[in-house]
Order: sequence, then C-alpha cells, then structure tokens
Amino acid sequence: MKVLLFGRTGQVGSALAEQAVAPVVLQSLHRVDVDLADSSAIDRVIRQAQPDVVINAAAYTAVDAAESEPDQAYQVNAKAPGVMAQACLECQALLVHYSTDYVFDGRGRQPYVEDSPTGPTGVYARSKLAGEVAVMAAGGQAIILRTGWVYSHDGRNFLHTMLRLAESGVPLSVVADQVGAPTYAPDLATATWKIIDRLQAQSNTSTLRILHATNHGEVSWHGFASALFERLGRNDVVVEAITTAMYPTAAPRPAYSVLSNDRLDKEFGVRLPSWEDGMMRCLDRLRTAKP
Ligand SMILES: NC(=O)c1ccc[n+]([C@@H]2O[C@H](COP(=O)([O-])OP(=O)(O)OC[C@H]3O[C@@H](n4cnc5c(N)ncnc54)[C@H](OP(=O)(O)O)[C@@H]3O)[C@@H](O)[C@H]2O)c1
Repeated sequence: MKVLLFGRTGQVGSALAEQAVAPVVLQSLHRVDVDLADSSAIDRVIRQAQPDVVINAAAYTAVDAAESEPDQAYQVNAKAPGVMAQACLECQALLVHYSTDYVFDGRGRQPYVEDSPTGPTGVYARSKLAGEVAVMAAGGQAIILRTGWVYSHDGRNFLHTMLRLAESGVPLSVVADQVGAPTYAPDLATATWKIIDRLQAQSNTSTLRILHATNHGEVSWHGFASALFERLGRNDVVVEAITTAMYPTAAPRPAYSVLSNDRLDKEFGVRLPSWEDGMMRCLDRLRTAKP
C-alpha cells in the first residue's frame, strides 16, 4: 500500500512515520519537499506518486499567530487540503485529513458529535473548518479526523512548556476553565493506521466522513498540568488555577471542546486510550529517551 504523508516533521506526522509498517510503503514529505502554499506542487507530487492513500498531517497550527496571518493560515489549512482532495479524487486515492476540536464554539457541555453545529471563533479554527468543507466538496474518498489538544514526547506543546516552566521554580498559572481531551500523538497515529487498514480491507470504497479521534476522557489544562506533576512526584511544583480572562490570547479558545469518539468506536472498532494513560506513556518515553 503506497502512502504519501504530508507533514512528517510534525507531532502527528512523525508518529505516523514511526509506526508505518509493511505492507505500507511510506513516502513522507515536509516543507522542503512541498510547501503547502504551492498548490501546483501539491497536485504534481500526488499525481507523480499515484498513492493508494494520502495523509495530510501538515497544517498551520500557530493558533494565535493565525490572527495576524490569515492568508497563510487559509492557504495551508483550507486551500491545500482542497487541492489534495481533488488530486486524490483523480488518482482514486483515499485522503486522510486532520481537523480540530476548535471548529466548535465551546459553549456545549456534552461531548460534541460529528454532526454537532460548528462555530469556530478564531482564524485558525475557521481556516480548519474551511479545510473540512473543501475536502468534503471534492467528493472523493476522504476521512476527516477531528482531534484536539495534541502533544507528544517531541515537538512544541503544552506538556513540554509545563516541564520547562517548572524548572524556573516560580508557581505556574494554568487555565482551569477550558476543558478538552489531551491527545498523545502516537495514540492518534495508531488509530489512524487502524482506520486506514479497515478501509483498505473493505471492498466498498464510497467513503466520505468526519470522525472524532481523541484520547478518552476530559480535563482542564490546569487538571492536565496537575496530573503531570503528580505523576512525576513533583510536589514542589505549585500549579495555580486561573481563568481564561486572566490569560488573554490573540485567538479565543473554546471553553469546552471534548469530542465524542462513539462513531469511531462503532464504525471502526477503534478506541483510543484514556488521556491519563497517554500522558504516562509520554512521560515514560521522555524518561527512557534521556541519556
Ligand atoms: N496540535 C494540536 O493541539 C492540534 C489540535 C487539534 C487538531 N490538530 C491538527 O492535527 C494535525 C497535526 O497537528 P500537529 O500537532 O502534528 O502539528 P505540528 O506539530 O504543528 O506540525 C505541523 C506540520 O505541518 C507542517 N507545515 C506547516 N506549514 C507548512 C507549509 N506551508 N508547507 C509544508 N508543511 C507545512 C510543519 O512543517 P515544519 O516542521 O516545516 O513547520 C509540520 O510538519 C493538524 O491538522 C492540526 O491542525 C492539532
């Protein structure tokens, strides 16, 4: 199975590449190979590769910077996925594309299902929703995996920021009124490969759907940080709870962005582990990676 991966340097992209095993023959690309600002290059590389599957793990993910760079965000997050979807349609390839919990406005209090009304509140979120629309509009075989609060043992993310700030010895102030599901990139990668396996095994290839894929459970950023230091036995680290209003950011964040994974479970038999389990394995990996 020939798989073309965009975004191999990212958290999810590198986890996907690490887990790729036969019969997958992986061609992974990053910005130097194809800049997602270049639509014709995207189209060309897909047509040349003639893959069975294209995975788009590349995105403009700088949520706050997107507020002042909307054109770049829309090019990468909305236009590029549309070009990929069109090229996949013509090559009869399956496109697996990632989207975000931030497509919801966050005013819900129950896990969002795939058909819940969207209501993105910032440029990044709107650009990602526009990407979903562009992929759906192309009408080929595509799976859009909405995920959230992604972190990994490498990459820039909340977990690493907390570990770094803890070294400064000052109390940490962490937002307690935003709730989501921290998702360990390798768990999302494992789920992605399972979905692809299942779809490739099916003879009916009329696939076009959105699926939610996050680690199981929910927690606030403050709860996540507290659990992290508790697990590390770092009683010396003080984690103060603050409100979103006390930590202003350029882009608004949804207060509640937990995604129901029931469809993924029912249709594919795929269930991601709990966020606590993902966090523990991430910490284990960091510990064993140390010289
Ligand atoms: N991170 C989260 O919390 C989160 C939450 C919900 C959904 N998601 C979605 O999950 C997916 C994967 O996210 P992630 O956390 O793995 O992202 P990430 O670590 O920020 O990686 C993004 C990838 O996209 C590449 N990229 C960005 N702009 C590009 C361009 N113009 N041309 C080519 N490549 C470009 C980056 O390349 P460089 O290394 O060269 O910059 C990198 O490989 C994305 O669709 C994201 O929107 C993420």
